[in-house]
Amino acid sequence: MRTIEWRDGVVVTIDQTMLPDREDWIEMRGCHEVAEAIKRMKIRGAPLIGAAAAYGLALTAYYSKARNRDDLLREIEQSADMLRRTRPTAVNLFWAIERILSKARSAVGDVDALKNLIIEEAKRIAEEDVIVNRKIGEYGSKLILDGDTILTHCNAGRLATVDYGTALAAVRFAWEEGKHIKVIATETRPLLQGARLTAYELMRDGIPVTLITDNMVGYVMSRGLVDKVFVGADRIVQDAVINKIGTYSIAVLAHEHNIPFYVAAPLSTFDFHSTSKNVIIEERGAEEVTYIKSIRIAPAGVSVLNPAFDITPIKYVSAIICEKGILSKDDFERIVREGRINFGAS
Ligand code: MRU
Repeated sequence: MRTIEWRDGVVVTIDQTMLPDREDWIEMRGCHEVAEAIKRMKIRGAPLIGAAAAYGLALTAYYSKARNRDDLLREIEQSADMLRRTRPTAVNLFWAIERILSKARSAVGDVDALKNLIIEEAKRIAEEDVIVNRKIGEYGSKLILDGDTILTHCNAGRLATVDYGTALAAVRFAWEEGKHIKVIATETRPLLQGARLTAYELMRDGIPVTLITDNMVGYVMSRGLVDKVFVGADRIVQDAVINKIGTYSIAVLAHEHNIPFYVAAPLSTFDFHSTSKNVIIEERGAEEVTYIKSIRIAPAGVSVLNPAFDITPIKYVSAIICEKGILSKDDFERIVREGRINFGAS
């Protein structure tokens, strides 16, 4: 099962705001619909946002009536601008847009050739995501022992990607290898990606999962109930991992309890041009905190802070797993120093 698919000018995806109650598949025929779906978090999770953005540009190309390359390129640039304004933190969005744009700008041939090239590149981005995630799963699984209990936060699973997941790819791979593992999923307030999505997708796959609220992490760690933490990332910068709000607290608690804290993410999530100081942390609406679904749980008018992500300094990260392998802190620091991703060259 793919979370998103291209079907001849229609992008089909699951509406994640309706899960776990309903599996609603939505069809999008314009880039503005994709942008709106990302904004409203029907589509979410860094790698999936990237693939969706690529398909959004593919829709613009597919339905364009432009008669020449320059006009088509202008339309693509406009769509790219609209997509860039959806969510600011996950770098995969910007990575996918730039990948399509640079390919399109340097292409030769007529308008039809350019349309084709954009659509094919978008499909390639989506297909590569699946291959890359399987690799992450393969490497990540090496860190998981038979009998381990893994704590995860938010949803870094199949639903956050085109397929297979990142942090949950490691879990999935270990499970497929026959390791007897269990997962503890944090509910992940305010939007409950852990309760709604991680619990749902693991239960569907038959992988044992226990749900806890976010404020139970310290307790379960102190009772020896967690062997390892695996989370995903929205952006990995020179000095930190940026991921769903609450990740930083879990990392600090893991450090205090000597529990390995692993981050699993594709290279498309790495942003070595930035440090944590220059990344925009998305601030979302107050109603996400004051309401659970349609029920108000706080006094009307209360002042609210709602950052969607937080910043975990690299010192708390035991290793980063990507499609090229497992990066120790030393590997990571060397890569940052060299300014390029060059494996095994130390
Ligand atoms: O706000 P969301 O649901 O898009 O946030 C998702 C996360 O923070 C995930 O952990 C991250 O994107 C990694 S997904 C493989």
